Amino acid sequence: MLFSERVPCGRLTPDDVGRQVLLAGWVDAFRDHGGLLFIHLRDRSGIVQVVVSPEVAPSEVCERAAALRSEYCVAVRGQVKQRLAGTENPRLDTGTTEVMVTELTVLAESDALPFAVSEKAMVAGAPSAEAEQVAEDLRLQYRYLDIRRPSMLDNLALRHRIFQTVRQFLDERGFLEIETPVLTMSTPEGARDYLVPSRVHPQNFYALPQSPQLFKQLLMIGGVERYFQLARCFRDEDLRPNRQPEFTQLDLEASFIDEEFLYELVEELTVKMFAVGEIELARPFPRMTYAEAMDTTGSDRPDLRFGLRFVDVTDVFAHTDYAIFRQILQRGGCIKGLNLKGQSPRLSKNVLQNEYAKEIAPSFGAKGMTWMRAENGGLESNIVQFFSAEELEELRRRFDAADGDVLIMVADPSYEVVTSALGQLRLHLAHRLGLIPAGSFCPVWITEFPLFDPTDEGGVTSSHHPFTAPDRTDFDPTNIEELLALRSRAYDLVVNGEELGGGSIRINNRDVQRKIFAALGLSDEDVRERFGFFLRAFDFGAPPHGGLALGMDRTVAMILQTSSIREVIAFPKNRSAACPLTGAPSAVKREQLAELELLNLGGQDLLPGTAEKEDWIDRLSWVSRIGIGAEERSVMEETVRRAEALAALAAEKAGGEKPMYSVVPVANRMRPGIEARRSELAQSGRLLKNAPSTKGDYFRVAGILE
Ligand code: AMO
Repeated sequence: MLFSERVPCGRLTPDDVGRQVLLAGWVDAFRDHGGLLFIHLRDRSGIVQVVVSPEVAPSEVCERAAALRSEYCVAVRGQVKQRLAGTENPRLDTGTTEVMVTELTVLAESDALPFAVSEKAMVAGAPSAEAEQVAEDLRLQYRYLDIRRPSMLDNLALRHRIFQTVRQFLDERGFLEIETPVLTMSTPEGARDYLVPSRVHPQNFYALPQSPQLFKQLLMIGGVERYFQLARCFRDEDLRPNRQPEFTQLDLEASFIDEEFLYELVEELTVKMFAVGEIELARPFPRMTYAEAMDTTGSDRPDLRFGLRFVDVTDVFAHTDYAIFRQILQRGGCIKGLNLKGQSPRLSKNVLQNEYAKEIAPSFGAKGMTWMRAENGGLESNIVQFFSAEELEELRRRFDAADGDVLIMVADPSYEVVTSALGQLRLHLAHRLGLIPAGSFCPVWITEFPLFDPTDEGGVTSSHHPFTAPDRTDFDPTNIEELLALRSRAYDLVVNGEELGGGSIRINNRDVQRKIFAALGLSDEDVRERFGFFLRAFDFGAPPHGGLALGMDRTVAMILQTSSIREVIAFPKNRSAACPLTGAPSAVKREQLAELELLNLGGQDLLPGTAEKEDWIDRLSWVSRIGIGAEERSVMEETVRRAEALAALAAEKAGGEKPMYSVVPVANRMRPGIEARRSELAQSGRLLKNAPSTKGDYFRVAGILE
């Protein structure tokens, strides 16, 4: 067979009718019509129907075809034919043609599938399989099958296209693609490092880069002037739906530039990337200061696809008789709210009071929520009687309220509590009321971030990273109040409430850099140890420079509008930072640890789980994170022994056949306690003492949207 003659399945057109073709791919689906076999043959380019008919194909081909199963890898030769009128399949690009098979070679057989790969039903109107219904860990365990699904393959192809767009654009703008080390020193980006032990330097570790930040700045000092990299970054942080322990950044840096250069460059690039997904973004992107974003949306990554901007009404209640507001204002607090225009029919008093005021707002950290409905030219609620007519009138004016509107307000002594709770309510209500238009994309630059955040210990920490330039350099590094008032020359690119990227103009003056380290409370020795090599480079004429990094997984996921960033990564980790395909992270052999001098083989300090299979019970206990007490050991040993015997029996009965995959959905299994017991802390109420909001014996957590 000459694969060089192969024709892509998805490219056959009516022009090919009459041609002899060689096709190779996978059996996507098949239908047996009493000896006449229809097969959807799929390769990367698409699907075409091939037909094995006893009238055309030799009998041994028909026999071989009858034994085909889903995902067998096959090659067929045959003639392209126009489908009979009425049998066309409009859901296939090749739906007006088919190939009459005369030769068939099975290149490789396939086991029964753990889930359906086919996405195109053969029968018109029949439902096709949806990956969302398959447990994600199963998809990740058999990722190579998952990637065969055309929609997954499309995601990877578009990711590739977007990456090529980036490369071409930056090349045209004079940027050099340069790789920086993966085995390196710690880079401060606010997460924990993944460490790699060195065998050659026992008890010493490399850190995997959280970003190429230090190296890209060194490249600027090296005179590269314009650098970029599609860089793999590693961060050991709490997982969220849009985070992965390893992810890809488009990292870039340029010298002799200012913020405007970067805005222009990144906007043009972003427009081009979104255009790959046929999304048009208007330029210039709007800009918003951090303070304005917090004041009006309660978030430094505001979703601007809908209105619902906050209105500050603190001063309306400056002389109020309503005790709750008065006390809050006496403590320096603030009151903000938003107007849900025309939503009165959809937000009943019951929903506002019993759901939002009593349950949802407290779960977002607010102590309460005030609501009012605009009706009959006035305002109605359970508490309007406590307000003066002037206050109510002024509220209507401030909120620009008309009958049918619903006003909600949050008051608290803390500005952070008000903005955070109202910001979460804003998003909750926008989702619930369907205020977010589908298919709209609203980019915005957030600027003028605070340079520092306060720490619990009364000091400061960098809100971006310590190399970000401050808005002024004449500050006193020991004056915390002054430090907290400094703004940075940092900027974030936010789209639809998601931070796609961020960067800053950097410090290029060694004295300013030293002042920042001093402000962070790092001793000279700390600085020398952690950043000595870096600071030394600033002694040799560092050019003014700045840059940015875009999270490419997030960007691609947004362009493709996938449900999670895992859908645009070939081999992602699951929600618990593990890889169900390879089993990583996994225990390693004791010898390997000993070789790295991380384990003293002669001593007692065995790491749990490292002595693989040495003691099944210890291993089970380690893997399941369930402590197994001495008194339970014999029961566990017996249970494991019986499970092993059952597995052996099942293997024997199956006569060498592969066992079936689990037919029940994967779910958490709770181990019942030995006796019913309530914790003393729960009984005394101390367990939930600090919970923002409780219900019975439970405390509320914020909903996680994915
Ligand atoms: P920052 O830490 O803001 O900046 O990261 C830049 C972008 O990287 C993406 N990102 C992630 N994506 C997936 N999973 C993660 N765990 C994850 N963490 C971050 C986000 C984020 O906006 N060195 C600086 C950039 C600079 O100053 O030039 C940096 O890394 O989309």
